[in-house]
Amino acid sequence: MARHRKKLIYLLGFMGSGKSTVGKLLARNMGWPFIDLDATIEAGQGATIRQIFEQDGEPFFRQIEHAALTEASKTEPAVIALGGGTWVQEPNLEFIRSTGGATIWLDCSLEELRRRCAGIDDRPLFRDPESFAQLFNQRLPYYRLAEFRVATDGQAPEEVVERILRLKVF
Ligand code: S3P
Repeated sequence: MARHRKKLIYLLGFMGSGKSTVGKLLARNMGWPFIDLDATIEAGQGATIRQIFEQDGEPFFRQIEHAALTEASKTEPAVIALGGGTWVQEPNLEFIRSTGGATIWLDCSLEELRRRCAGIDDRPLFRDPESFAQLFNQRLPYYRLAEFRVATDGQAPEEVVERILRLKVF
């Protein structure tokens, strides 16, 4: 943990856990800037995440994701919504920890995530229910390494924000 705790809040969790929606609301509530990592990648590349995966592959995506993460973390204070896979890449996890920013896992059940992602085809890693479940289970041990956990099942984004504010992160 860095000695100087940076005023950064990283929201992490699986696809569909509400990182972007909750992040925007949380940032507004705190009067802090909001950075959506996927959106900055798309703006920087002039392509959607799906197009980047299809044209350049996942390893390339992970490279630019790491660069976007380090760049975004220069803004302080800020609420940063990570992509579903950002935190589970070891170099990212180590980098985030080195900033001393707060890491909050938006914990959501597989059933609810499936419901929320069904019918949305902009996620290259949402192929079929089996691989979705497999990826979810692979990633759970990493998500559990977050400093804070907020249960989001059946919660409206505003309620999730209330829960985060009650954590008294800073
Ligand atoms: C990914 C999740 C996506 C996006 C990319 C990879 C993942 O973000 O970063 O498709 O590895 O789970 P969301 O969690 O915002 O969908």
